[in-house]
Formats: sequence, C-alpha cells, structure tokens
Amino acid sequence: MRILITGHLGYIGGVLVPTMLDGGHEVVGLDSGLFDGCDFLSQSAVVPTVAEDIRDVEPHQLDGIDAVVHLAGISNDAVGALNPPLTDEVNHRASVSLAQAAKRAGVARFVFSSTAAVYGHRVAPVSEEVKISPLTEYSRSKGDAEAGLLAMSDDRFAVTVLRSGTVYGASPRFRLDLVMNRMVASALLSSVVEVHGGGVVSRPILDVRDLVRVFAAVVTAPLADVEGRVLNVGRPDGNLTVAEMAEIVTSLVPGARVIRSRGHSPGESSYRCDFSALRRVLPGTRLEFDPYEGARDLIEILQSRSLGVDDLDHPRYSRLGWIERRVEGGKLTADLRPARDPEMDGVWDDLLG
Ligand SMILES: NC(=O)c1ccc[n+]([C@@H]2O[C@H](COP(=O)([O-])OP(=O)(O)OC[C@H]3O[C@@H](n4cnc5c(N)ncnc54)[C@H](O)[C@@H]3O)[C@@H](O)[C@H]2O)c1
Repeated sequence: MRILITGHLGYIGGVLVPTMLDGGHEVVGLDSGLFDGCDFLSQSAVVPTVAEDIRDVEPHQLDGIDAVVHLAGISNDAVGALNPPLTDEVNHRASVSLAQAAKRAGVARFVFSSTAAVYGHRVAPVSEEVKISPLTEYSRSKGDAEAGLLAMSDDRFAVTVLRSGTVYGASPRFRLDLVMNRMVASALLSSVVEVHGGGVVSRPILDVRDLVRVFAAVVTAPLADVEGRVLNVGRPDGNLTVAEMAEIVTSLVPGARVIRSRGHSPGESSYRCDFSALRRVLPGTRLEFDPYEGARDLIEILQSRSLGVDDLDHPRYSRLGWIERRVEGGKLTADLRPARDPEMDGVWDDLLG
C-alpha cells in the first residue's frame, strides 16, 4: 500500500514511519518542518518527503496514494491557545480540505489522529458513543475536525478517527511536554517528580510503540470494520491519575521522590476511557506495553543519552517553547509559516533584474 503520512517528522511520526515500512508499505511524508532541529535520536528511516503545509495541499499531490494517515497539526493545548483562529484553521479546516483533496484524488482511506481530550472532564471511563465536550481550543479543533471528516466518510473514502490517550516513549523527535515523558526525564535528571494539585487529574496514557501499531492495523483492516469508525486508543491499565503515574516512575528510578505542590488548575480536563471497542474492532492488535514496562524502556533509552538537567526545559523538547523561539527569532510568522528572509528577497531581485 502507498501511504501518505502527514506530520511524519513529529514525535509520533518518527516511530510510525519505520513501523509502516516494516509492514511492507511504501511511505511518503508530508510535513512543514516546524520542528526541524529538534532531534533526540537519529531518524531510523528517511522517506520521500513533500515539504508542504497541509493548508496548501492540492489533489494532484495525492495521486497514487492508497491511504492518508493524518498526524500533522498543532499538537497540544498550550500551542492551541496561542491563536485560537489559527488552531481552528490548521487542525480543523485544513484537515477537512486535505481530506477533500484526498477524496478527489481517489484515496481509499483516511485515518485521523484525534485525541481523547475531546471528552473534557469525566469521572467514569467514556466510550466513543458519549457526546464529546472539549474544553480547550486544541481539543475543540480536533472535535470539529472529527465531525467534518466523518461527514465525508463512505464506501469509497473510509474515514477512521483514532482518539488516543496521552502518548509516552522514545522517538527521534522526543517531547518533554507530555506528562509521562516529563516525569521519567525529571526523575532521572533531577531526582524529583513534581505533582500539582494533589495529582487527581486522570489521563489515559499509552506507549507510542503501541499507538503506531494501531495506526498500522487500521490501514489494512477490512474497510467495513473501520469505515466511519471512532476508536479510543489505549489500555485500561493506562487510565491513571497523575499521582499514580508519579508513583510508577519513582518506583523505577532509585532515589527519585515526588514533590507535591499546592494549587490546582480548575479548567484542566480529566478523563478515563473505555477501550473495549478497540479490542472488538481490531482483535488481532494487542497493546503490549503496560505503564511499568513502557516507562522502564524509556528510562533505559534516556540513560543511554547524555542529557543534563537543563535539557528538561530546552525548547527542543517543548512544542510551545520551540514555536515561541522561532517566532521571536523571526524564522516563523505568527501563523506558523516560514518567515521570508529579507536577504533572499535581495537575491531574487538581482536574479530577476
Ligand atoms: N503526542 C500525543 O500524546 C498525542 C495524543 C493524542 C493525539 N495526538 C495527535 O497526534 C498528532 C501527532 O502528534 P505528535 O505528538 O507527533 O505532534 P508533533 O507536534 O510532534 O508533530 C506534529 C508534526 O506536524 C507538523 N505540522 C504541524 N503543522 C503543520 C502544517 N500546517 N502543515 C504540515 N505539517 C505540519 C509538524 O512540523 C510536526 O512534524 C497531532 O495531530 C496530535 O494532536 C498526539
């Protein structure tokens, strides 16, 4: 199968690309390169890449593609809050126009990387039938994209929405702005795991290696099983409070301790998911790593790198930090497009006479 992965140069993409290649697929990547320079591990697989913004994709760029796996976008609440209309433009409207281009080009499948954060604030585990109630610009944009994409799904163009929990684990484009990754790195580098507001907020977490196997399974699943389907992606034992995550991490890192700070963030969403539909629809796809195993593997990889305590707050590992640095440095415009280089303008003026 010929698969276009958007956002293939990001955190999840760096693990998904080699998995798809291992599955015997031909992969083409499409990415605007927002995080070029944020390398943590070397990319194990380099694939043909369209250096393009999803806002500008034309149907002819999708000729010959069998499936699109759509990861590209603004990927957390912090960046999503910077400019709400932009978050809607990139995550919602550009996702729908990309799918329209794909449908026109005859692409048969479209898999959308959504988030369980669309559920907002819930106590009991939620299944996919529950009405979503997103609380942030980021999760609202994902919910709106889901609706627009699912409305296009039919037997010629099968849309599948994966609502994944918060991911953790190593990747060529590692992130330290994801809760479990940050806790593990902080325990190793500073011997401290900070827990705010009692750590009562719940999140389903899952290992990035498990998430990418689900993407791989969806692109080859019988169309009737996945067309128009929304699936929560995670493991029941990954539904954890922040305090429980901290306990796991400190139990695995000798000398690390939890520091509890007062205060809480009332708007913060907290949710747990029911994953029975995933097991029913993709019975052959087991999620292998429980949070202890996943964290243990991440610890091993972080220990093999020469990271220092300063890396915990290096912009290279923070989506917000990196974007702010590039906008402030004049490399990116506020709408996350490459800034024009005035020196190059001079060169073009000379060349064009
Ligand atoms: N990481 C998680 O825990 C998690 C959980 C649920 C859902 N998701 C979703 O999965 C997707 C991938 O997440 P990630 O952690 O790899 O994010 P990431 O920020 O690491 O990667 C996103 C990639 O998309 C690219 N991109 C962003 N805007 C673009 C645009 N307009 N045009 C072309 N490329 C663009 C970036 O350059 C980057 O390489 C995102 O849509 C995110 O919302 C992530």
